[in-house]
Amino acid sequence: MPGQESWRNPMIYQVFYTSRSLFGSGNATDHEILSVARARNAATGVTGYLFRTNMAFMQFLEGHEADVRPILRSILDDPRHDQIDIWPAMRIRERQFAGWDMGYANGLADENLAHVARQRLDGVTVDHVRRYLTGLRAA
Ligand SMILES: Cc1cc2nc3c(=O)[nH]c(=O)nc-3n(C[C@H](O)[C@H](O)[C@H](O)COP(=O)(O)O)c2cc1C
Repeated sequence: MPGQESWRNPMIYQVFYTSRSLFGSGNATDHEILSVARARNAATGVTGYLFRTNMAFMQFLEGHEADVRPILRSILDDPRHDQIDIWPAMRIRERQFAGWDMGYANGLADENLAHVARQRLDGVTVDHVRRYLTGLRAA
């Protein structure tokens, strides 16, 4: 439970990046990435969300710093994407993606992803992003 976790460790380490995908949306590679990611994240208590456009990824990863860092290192070395742009790491009290070993949303337009990334810089919460994405899917 998030409450118990913040009692044990008040600070969750959260990283966020955007990158250019080297294969198109809808490719089976997304499923390969997700199945490996979800297994490894679950084993180490890392949670997060991967947003996907045809050209780009945008991902949040969160957990204990010692668990997140090696996964981020693997992701940075992954040849399936490049132009990785990492925002400064955040320390947060509660996970924003508790319950997601790695959530996944596909079909976002590239210009909307840039918009979401800018909102993140302005401190807009993930709940806002989620509501925004839900709105896009409904539109
Ligand atoms: C866009 C993208 C997101 C990824 N997300 C994760 C993730 O959340 N967790 C994870 O363990 N691996 C993720 N991976 C896969 C890692 O890059 C890596 O292949 C995997 O963790 C296995 O690690 P290894 O290659 O060092 O053995 C992702 C890869 C890409 C391209």
